[in-house]
Amino acid sequence: MHLTKEEERIYDGEFCWANQVCMKILVRLGELFKAKKLIPISSSHVSGVSYKTLGDAPTEFLEALAKANAKVKVKSTLNPQSLDCNFLCKRLPSDLYEKQMNVLNCFEKMGFTSSLTCTPYYLEKPKKDVHLAWAESSAVVYANSVLGAWTNREGGPSALAAAIIGKTPDYGMHQAENRQPKVLVKLEKPLLDDVEFGALGIFLGKILKDEIPIIQGLEKASKDNLKQLGAALATAGMTNMFYHKLPRIKTEKIEKISVQTSDLKRTIEKLTTTSTKTPDLIFVGCPHCSLNEIRQIAKLIGSRKIRKETEFWVCTSRHIKEKAIKHVKKIERNGGHVLTDTCAVVTWTEKLGIKTIMTNSAKTAHYVPTLNKAQTILAPLKECIKKACEG
Ligand code: F3S
Repeated sequence: MHLTKEEERIYDGEFCWANQVCMKILVRLGELFKAKKLIPISSSHVSGVSYKTLGDAPTEFLEALAKANAKVKVKSTLNPQSLDCNFLCKRLPSDLYEKQMNVLNCFEKMGFTSSLTCTPYYLEKPKKDVHLAWAESSAVVYANSVLGAWTNREGGPSALAAAIIGKTPDYGMHQAENRQPKVLVKLEKPLLDDVEFGALGIFLGKILKDEIPIIQGLEKASKDNLKQLGAALATAGMTNMFYHKLPRIKTEKIEKISVQTSDLKRTIEKLTTTSTKTPDLIFVGCPHCSLNEIRQIAKLIGSRKIRKETEFWVCTSRHIKEKAIKHVKKIERNGGHVLTDTCAVVTWTEKLGIKTIMTNSAKTAHYVPTLNKAQTILAPLKECIKKACEG
């Protein structure tokens, strides 16, 4: 891989140790994928912030980088951590809180913005055609497919290294030829609700592996629908982008797949792992809610109260919570909890005694049995709220 004179000097350790390590991570990655050079990025978004998923060894690496005075070169944001400082921190063991705060302090010392959200694009929307190094898979698909930005699906370490160097290896989704659609997907019927968008993502993710589809029939889909679809697509496979509008290409020669309503029904059924009708937790906000989604949740609750037997969590970013404060107050007055900085998947729900989680997110339903050791019920937002209020 070609390095500029300055990049070579960083690689050889002429500057600080932290920069050298980060440059070595990027060069190794670039060589692996046969990149010819590094390219500048507009922003980085780092995953692996939750101490629950991170653990001790990666924390030591973060401590070493922060101690060596590593500093980000571009706008750099963080994925959710394992708890928030208002609600969950009071219910979880204090040593977990301290360990999480240590991780966050390391990132803050390096200059990361404490966004703690998987929807950094609500905080600052990347411009079309800019290059990014983002690690949260749902945000990667959204950036490539809805926002028109260019990013690979980074791992936590490579997004971190890219933040410190301000560059990323030029391969994969940074090159136009790798962003061409390979499959045309036709839907038997238009999708009805958030759960069907998620189910389509899971279904396609499994069969496409990493191929990019054009999905016909999404003309009326909202950005929130596309967010659900993309998050699920990335959860079940390695596809980093989909087209929801027909690009100007000839589609006669590309492979065609048709998705039947029965395919989606089967996918939804598989994502519900229990027959119990009484979840301990109802969780919405995966990926973190938009302003529109919070507004919709408050409206759907209406004048009803959340039942005392069930916890109802709505997860979003601090930024959106502030913007949606009127609706947030209404949700909380009626017995719900609007959490920032975290989500049900990256916190320790099992330590809170939660054994069954109901959600409208196919991504959450996919992860909960393994990451939360809980059963799942996947249902549309309206049903989740009905269950929270009426049982
Ligand atoms: Fe975000 Fe947590 Fe879902 S990090 S994408 S809300 S699993």
